[in-house]
Parts: sequence; C-alpha cells; structure tokens
Amino acid sequence: MSDLSATRRLIRAKTFAPEDEVLECLSRFLPDDDARKRIEENAASVVEHLRKDAKPALMEVFLAEYGLNTDEGVALMCLAEALLRVPDAGTMDTLIEDKIAPSDWGKHLGVAHSPLVNASTWALFLTGKVLDTDASVASVLRTAIKRMGEPVIRKAVRRAMKEMGRQFVLGETIQSAMARAAEREARGNSYSYDMLGEAARTDADARRYMAAYADAIAAMAGAEGQDIRNRPGISIKLSALFERYERLQRARVMEVLVPRVKALAQQAANANIGLNIDAEEADRLDLSLDVIEAVLSDPALAGWDGFGVVVQAYGKRASAVIDWLSQLSLHHDRRIMVRLVKGAYWDTEIKQAQTLGHASYPVFTRKAATDASYIACAHQLAGMVDHIYPQFATHNAHTVAAIIDMNIAPQAYEFQRLHGMGEALHDHLSVSYGTKTRIYAPVGAHRDLLAYLVRRLLENGANSSFVNQIVDEARPVCEVVADPIAALGAQAIKLPQPAEIFAPRVNSDGFDWSDPDACAALEAQLASIDTKAWVTTQAVGSIRKTVKSPGRNDSVGTAYWATAQEASEAVASVTMWTADPTTRAETLHHAADLYEAERVNLTSLLMREAGKTLIDCINEVREAVDFLRYYASFADATSGVGTVTCISPWNFPLAIFTGQIAAALAAGNGVLAKPAEQTSLIADYAVALLIKAGVPSECLRLVAGDGAVVGPVLTGTPGVNAVAFTGSTATAQRINRTMAATLAPGTPFIAETGGQNAMIVDSTALLEQAVRDIIASAFQSAGQRCSALRMLYVQEDIAPALIQMLTGAMDALVVGDATDFATDVGPIIDAAAKARIDAHIAASVILHQGPAGGPNHVPPTLLRVNGINDLAEEVFGPVCHIATFAACDLPRVISDINGSGYGLTFGLHSRIDSRVEEISQQVHAGNIYVNRNQIGAVVGSQPFGGYGLS
Ligand code: FAD
Ligand code: 2OP
Repeated sequence: MSDLSATRRLIRAKTFAPEDEVLECLSRFLPDDDARKRIEENAASVVEHLRKDAKPALMEVFLAEYGLNTDEGVALMCLAEALLRVPDAGTMDTLIEDKIAPSDWGKHLGVAHSPLVNASTWALFLTGKVLDTDASVASVLRTAIKRMGEPVIRKAVRRAMKEMGRQFVLGETIQSAMARAAEREARGNSYSYDMLGEAARTDADARRYMAAYADAIAAMAGAEGQDIRNRPGISIKLSALFERYERLQRARVMEVLVPRVKALAQQAANANIGLNIDAEEADRLDLSLDVIEAVLSDPALAGWDGFGVVVQAYGKRASAVIDWLSQLSLHHDRRIMVRLVKGAYWDTEIKQAQTLGHASYPVFTRKAATDASYIACAHQLAGMVDHIYPQFATHNAHTVAAIIDMNIAPQAYEFQRLHGMGEALHDHLSVSYGTKTRIYAPVGAHRDLLAYLVRRLLENGANSSFVNQIVDEARPVCEVVADPIAALGAQAIKLPQPAEIFAPRVNSDGFDWSDPDACAALEAQLASIDTKAWVTTQAVGSIRKTVKSPGRNDSVGTAYWATAQEASEAVASVTMWTADPTTRAETLHHAADLYEAERVNLTSLLMREAGKTLIDCINEVREAVDFLRYYASFADATSGVGTVTCISPWNFPLAIFTGQIAAALAAGNGVLAKPAEQTSLIADYAVALLIKAGVPSECLRLVAGDGAVVGPVLTGTPGVNAVAFTGSTATAQRINRTMAATLAPGTPFIAETGGQNAMIVDSTALLEQAVRDIIASAFQSAGQRCSALRMLYVQEDIAPALIQMLTGAMDALVVGDATDFATDVGPIIDAAAKARIDAHIAASVILHQGPAGGPNHVPPTLLRVNGINDLAEEVFGPVCHIATFAACDLPRVISDINGSGYGLTFGLHSRIDSRVEEISQQVHAGNIYVNRNQIGAVVGSQPFGGYGLS
C-alpha cells in the first residue's frame, strides 16, 4: 500500500512539472538510434502502401476536405453540432442560412474522390447559392423557397448532417450498432461500445446514462466467444454517471459514483466482457484514480480480467500513472487492461491552465513530445504483459511501427482505433503482422454526439494530426512519419506558460483545487488561523466594532471605525504620492507579490468575514493581484489629480477595494479608502500589505466606518479631488448629490453600480452548456455579484427541457458553510440583506428552489416572471427570474432589456453567428458574453463597466 501512496504522490508532483524534465525521465523507455531508424522506415513503407493501395475512410476524406482551417469546415462543424437538436423550423432555417450562405462551397466541388463528400458538397453549394442574399437571381429564388420550398432544404441539410453523424456513430441503439458490427467482427475485429453522453448535469441524467450502460452490457452478454479479449466491451465515462464528478465533491463522488461503477463492473464481469473507464479532463485524473482503486479492490470482482483504464500519453503524469496501475494490479492480484491513447482534450487543457493561472500545463505542448511519450509508455506496458493487457489506441503509422518494433507476442496485446478512422492502417496491420484490432464505437442519438464530434473534428482538423497528414498527398512521406524523438531535439517550446499569457505583465498565480495534497495543506493552514481574532491596525478611528462571520455568526475579530471628525482629519492629512513613477510601479508589483505570499491569510479573512467559498476566494485574491500589476504598468503614463476617495463594496472586499486604490496610487494620488461596513478587516489587512510593500502611510488612509457617518465627509469635503465608487445605484446617486453640492465643479466621479443582467438562450443552444453557465452566472457567490444573471429569457421551444435540467442542476448544488471546500453557495452577507431577498421571494411565483442551507442562506431560487419589466430593483442574492419568449418575439425581448435602464452584463447562448452579431450591436451592456457564463471578468482581458444605471 505504501508503494501505491508513494506513486500517487509522484503522480501529483508531475502534474505541472517542466516539459523537458518529464521527457528526460521518459528517455530510458525510448528506442535506440537503430530501432528509431527501423521504425521510421517501416512507417514510411506503411504510409506509401496506404497512399497507393488503400482507400482512405470517408470521414478522413471529409475531414481533409473540410479542415477547421477553412470557413466551410468551421461552418460544417457548427451545423453538425447544432442542427439536429433544434426543435423549431424557423430557428433551424435561420441556422442553416447562417452557416451555409457565407461560405464558398463551390471550391470544394469535385475535389474529393468520394461520392458522399461530393454529394454533400453539392447540397451545401446549392443551398448556399439559394441562400446567398447578394445575388439577385438567388434572392428571387430565396423568396420563392421561403414561401414553399424551405422544408426541402431543411430536410436535405438535416439528412446531410445525419449522414455525417453516421460516420461517427455506429448505431443509434446498441442493437443496431451490434448488428452493424457483425460484418467486421466476422473479419476478426472486436468492438468497445461507447454510449454517447457525458458531463451529466442532473441526477436524472446520470441515472439515464447508467441505465443506457446497463442495457448495453445486457445486450452484449450473449455475444459469441469465451476469451474476454475477443469479446465486445464497453467504455464508460465517469462524468456521465454522476453530475458532480469533481474533486471538491470527492466525498459524494465516493458515496454515489463508486457504487454505480461497481455495479456496472459487476454486471460486465458476469457478462464476461471488458469494461473500460475513459480518461477525461486532466483535473479529474487524480479523482478518477480514487474511483478506480475503490472499484478494483472490490472482492466481488476477483477473477475478472476485464477491468480497463485509459491512460493519456499527452499528460505529463502518464508514465507514473502506468506505474501505479501496475502496482495496483499486482497488489490486488487482478489482471487489468490499459488502453493507451494520446488524449482528446488538448485544447481544453491548454485554455484551462491559462485561465486558472496554473504553474504550467498538465499536457505536453509539442506534438512530438506527445508522440514520444506514447512510445515510452507503450514500452513500459510492453514490460508488464504478465499482469496488464495493453490496448494501443492510435491511428498513427509511426506510432504503430514503434509498437510493432517492440515485438510483443500478438496475443498479449491489441490495437484499437475509433469507428470511421484508421481503417486501412489497422486492416493492413492485421494482414502483415497478425495483430488484433478493437474498434471504439459510439452508440446513441445523434443529438448526444456533440462533445465527441467536436473532439474528433479538433483532433483531425489540426494539421499536426496524422489522419490529416496522410490524406494530404502534398505532404511528403518522410514528413508524415518523421521520428518524433529527433524532432523534439530541434523543436523549442513555443507556447507561453500560463504565467506569461499577459506578458510583460505576470498572470496571477492560481491554485489547483483538483490536487488533494494542495487542498489538504490549505485546509490545515486555514484551520490554524480559524480561531484567530483579527484586529484592524491601519484603520483610523476609535469606535470599536465586533465583526461576525456571515452564516456562522462567530466572531472574526475587532474593527475600529472612524467618527466624522476622525474621517475629516484623514481627509486633511492625506498627501499625494510623489515618488517617481518607477518607484510607484515597483511598489505595486511588490504588493502583488505580498498578496500572493499572504494568500492563506487573505483566504481565511475572505471566507470568515465575507462568507466566500474556496473558489471565490482564490479568484478574488488573483483578481486583486492582477489589478495591482495591471495598474502598475500605467504608473509612468498618468499623473494624479490629488486626493481620491475610493469606496468599495463587501462583495469583492479585496479585489475591488485593491483595484480602485491601485489605480489611484499608480497615478500618484493620495487615497482615502473606505471599505464596506461588513468587510473592514480584510480591507485593513490589504492596506497593511500595501504599506509593507512601500506605499507611504500618509498617502493611503483607511477610513472604515458607517457609510452614513463617514461617507459624506469623504465625498463632500473640499480637498477631495475625485471619487471612485462601486456599490448600489442609490448610494451612487447620493454621493453624486453630495459631490455636486460641495466639491469643485467637474470633480471626477467614477461609479460602477448594479445591474439587471439578462441572458437569452435560443433553441440552438446546447442545454448542458447553457445550464452550466446559468448556474454559475446566477448562483456562484450566492448571486452576490453585480454581474450576476438576474433575468433569464429562454426560447419557448426548449423551455421545458431547459427548466428540467436547470432545476435538476440546482438540486445538485451544495449550499452551506463557506469554509467547507465542497460548498457551492455560501451565506448571504447579513440579516438585513437576507430579509430583503426573502421578502422578494415571498412576493413572487416560485418555480423552483434548491437546497435550503442554514438560517443565513437563501436557497438557489428560480422565479417565474413575464419579463424584465416585472423586476423592480436589483435582488442581490441567488435568485434568478425566468421568462420564455417566442422566436419571433426576440426583438421585443431585446428592447425590454434595453428599456430597463441598466446595462452591465449580458449573456447570450446561440449558435447563430448573425444573431450574435446583431444582438451584440443592439444590447446596451458593458460586457456581452456569448456561449459562456457572464461573471468573472478578467483584468486586462475583459474590461469591466456598464451603461445607464449600471
Ligand atoms: P496523432 O495525430 O498522431 O496524435 C494526435 C495527438 O497529438 C492528440 O492527442 C493531440 O492532442 C496531440 N497533439 C496535437 N498537437 C499537440 C501539441 N502541440 N502538443 C502536444 N500534443 C499535441 N482520448 C481520451 O482523451 N480519452 C479516452 O478515453 C480515449 N479513448 C480512446 C479510445 C480509442 C479506442 C481510441 C482510438 C482513441 C481514444 N481517445 C481517447 C482519443 C485519442 O486520444 C485520439 O484519438 C488520439 O489522440 C489520436 O491519436 P493518434 O495517434 O491517432 O493521432
Ligand atoms: C472520446 O470520447 C474516444 O474517449 C474518446 O473522445
């Protein structure tokens, strides 16, 4: 067991290890120079044979013709992804027009030597011509077709898309898939069926996927043959079986997901078939190993050799994971199957690591590194065939040649390929080397194909992809089979590290909450601070206030608030920061570093004083750090106006507080900082760090206190030269009046206030994606963000399905104590705020409420309204209003949203580009987010601000 734990630690240590260091460790498993030469030659002869004698598969030709580097390829991908799920004819027509009309299908005519590609191209070409609004003849035709012929086009394009889907899906039911498989089975291939569907959002979805897997296994039980290696198998995705398959929900994962996987494994064992656990996103890898260990150690599964695990060679942890699986197999005395793949989520991993500010990438950044890693991992597996059955899944002739060169006994392993890909290569291998091939075959409704399809298109559309290269006859064979190990030596890492993406500004450091060691360490550190009684040290003032934790009501410490007189003295004594711009910039940079170094204390304060959840705390510290570095870069370009009063809200007590101050200080101003009453302690800690970094204390005065007492002094005393404010519209208006009455005319007032933020979801949206983003937009931070979604408009054609999924996802949220890392929705900031929200809910039509939480919580709530006009004032909590609209009423919806007078954030879920373009022009909102959530603007990347009352 201790070996296993040690290897798990090693795996974790490799997650973000430097690429070259990981490759260096792998080098002992790589072939020598002679072998490499042999492999390259063999691969070249295979490619020559395939190009000369074999017909590439339909899908390969299709992808070669419509790569993602062509407008038509992208249009096709969007159509294939969305069309089949759109229920209403009107939207379907708009989508077809949007995707087909702007593209130049004519240039693809007759190029491909495939009847299907040509037939589809003709269909799209003609449709495009008909829809082409610029051509006058066409526009006549178009009018005619609008009147009578559109169903014909709709049908034709739907058919083309279904045909495309058929290239990827073996059958819509397991029975039809198995029937279609019979032909290849007779020729010696076997299958692993993948029931389409992943990333369940609700318990009902997870149960549906579970039932689909169980039905499929039952159908396979009667398959022919005794040897499990020749019988069909099933591939399952853990994300399909539990709606909260996430590290921070580990306890529930072990409680809910593990029994489900055990039940399926038991059923597979009884049916004498293999059951394979697909590998998904990198942040789930560690958690998946917990699940795998729990399932494999089940004594009921003794004697079954069909448990399979996928390892992704593009991951830096791959080799260590193989070591661990080997130890696990020996420890439990179970033979297991290991499917080695390169990995299908590369683009996601890269983006995710950048967004989360990770130390590096969890995957290799050079294609050659992935290829080399694959060969090294294959070599490792080749040495484990006494207890592991390797399944080498690849379509790449060089990779295959490297495995053949390892001379593993043909019965001791198998090759695998995806349905529709690598057919000719694998057939050639079985003839030449007597190897076996298993085909991974998706089964299910085409509407569930999206995620799988997108991965295939990204994979094969990339010009680095083997499948893409082999079809491209212009590509010399020597390039297609070039030795990756040699290529690595010549190829420097080009991709900037996550810290460098805003260069020269350093990206803020993230925290990997998928790493249990990191979480446990943080938890322990927080626990040691938890009982600390904080006292303000920087705030001017003598009024003693006890600070209570929202949601827990225990004491966090003591804050000192200022009287009006003390506030006045602060105004009189603050001075401009006259240090040279370089010093100011360096000081702010230093402060940013101190914030990062003090992240644990800041997190503790944010959790306890502001009731923030772990992820919100991490994001908030990062945003504050980004602000410091961002404004530091303006230090030499601007000059101060004098004294700036900065008034910040409790909902971002560190980030907005710091952002306002950093901007003013960077320009050389003196700053009067007034935090929200609820969050004086965190403000005090931030000021202490700024002063420690070198901001002179006479240039930064912290005036905590009752807004009604100190506010008028800080915004109405002559000598104040500008005011920056973030908070409610009512307070902004009050400040505006005070300033107008007392300060010099023209004194700048920068105010960012609330919003009645809307999101529109049309019938082309993918429900899973829309629901994920609605949940985050409306309920993250308990809805206590000015950017939060308040008014959701859903096209009526998809409303019942969306509401069902949304309410299911609300039920899956954890509402509770902010200091518990598993909590999604924390408490409301104080009793007065909660009372206002409760009153609003009581006076409304409740459609659904999620878990209740404690006495200081408001459950995630969905309220039925007719539209944004029913909303009076901003309800600052986890409350989302929903209305439906008919497709033809979209213009009215937009005009209602604009009529609200607010304009902060706006979200849109639609696959229709022209609609996205049009609505983005029409909606008056500072930030418009398309097909994503509408919160969490990133400093310097998504400038934040609004119009009108916002
Ligand atoms: P190649 O074209 O040789 O390699 C493509 C690989 O290179 C991809 O992994 C790609 O991400 C990587 N790559 C491209 N550019 C770069 C770069 N700049 N830096 C680093 N790497 C780069 N995938 C999963 O993730 N999980 C699974 O459970 C899974 N199951 C599968 C089961 C089977 C039977 C098969 C055949 C595939 C499975 N896959 C799975 C998909 C698999 O990851 C891809 O099909 C595979 O990556 C294609 O590899 P190749 O050798 O055929 O192609
Ligand atoms: C995927 O779903 C094949 O598991 C792999 O992309």
